[in-house]
Amino acid sequence: MKVILFNGSMNEQGNTYYALHEIEKILNNEGIETELLCIGNKPIRDCIACGGCVGKGRCVFNDDIANEWLGKMEKADGFIFGTPVYFAHASGRLQSIMDRMFYANKKVFAHKVGAVVSIARRAGTTFALDNLNKYLLMSNVIIPGSTYWNVVFGRTPGESQGDAEGMQTMRNLAKNMVWVMKCLEIGKNSNLLPPDLEYDAKTHFIR
Ligand SMILES: Cc1cc2nc3c(=O)[nH]c(=O)nc-3n(C[C@H](O)[C@H](O)[C@H](O)COP(=O)(O)O)c2cc1C
Repeated sequence: MKVILFNGSMNEQGNTYYALHEIEKILNNEGIETELLCIGNKPIRDCIACGGCVGKGRCVFNDDIANEWLGKMEKADGFIFGTPVYFAHASGRLQSIMDRMFYANKKVFAHKVGAVVSIARRAGTTFALDNLNKYLLMSNVIIPGSTYWNVVFGRTPGESQGDAEGMQTMRNLAKNMVWVMKCLEIGKNSNLLPPDLEYDAKTHFIR
């Protein structure tokens, strides 16, 4: 089984990395393969609502990482998105990528185990969590919990390692994630497959 950890900070070795790495260590100890990807600092496009992705499962733009990350998700069984908090919301760059990934192909996340984590100096973590959880909650993702909200505090790169409860929350999230993934694997091997869902009704309140 494989989990992709998406780091939404352009700091490759910043606090978001340390939070995700804490999760990664538990996953690896439990025999789960991981890949930790960083959003980096190259330009990221916004969704331009062209609709060109509909039915294709890929964004029309191939000059950044959106389609590459979608391709990685196809082969993964679970995922975590980690974000630094910027003005009490998730990273705008990460939101742009997630808009395009989930609009083009949210089925690639469906019935997989996923979670989001946020990292801040002081405030705004739960807003960022709400922000990112909304992508998962309408994409049939199975979201494990932890012993606190999935937040870690730290300002300068690496400071988050000193947030004992934050790191404990990351480890417990990872343990719950492993447990749910293993339960799903046992289910799959017993032919207990994800349900067939309805997608036909799409209303917009005036008809
Ligand atoms: C543009 C910007 C806005 C920020 N806004 C907040 C904020 O609203 N609340 C907060 O506690 N920290 C804020 N921070 C601090 C970062 O969230 C914090 O340093 C975090 O650890 C950075 O994660 P990273 O090292 O993975 O990049 C902000 C940082 C930047 C660059």
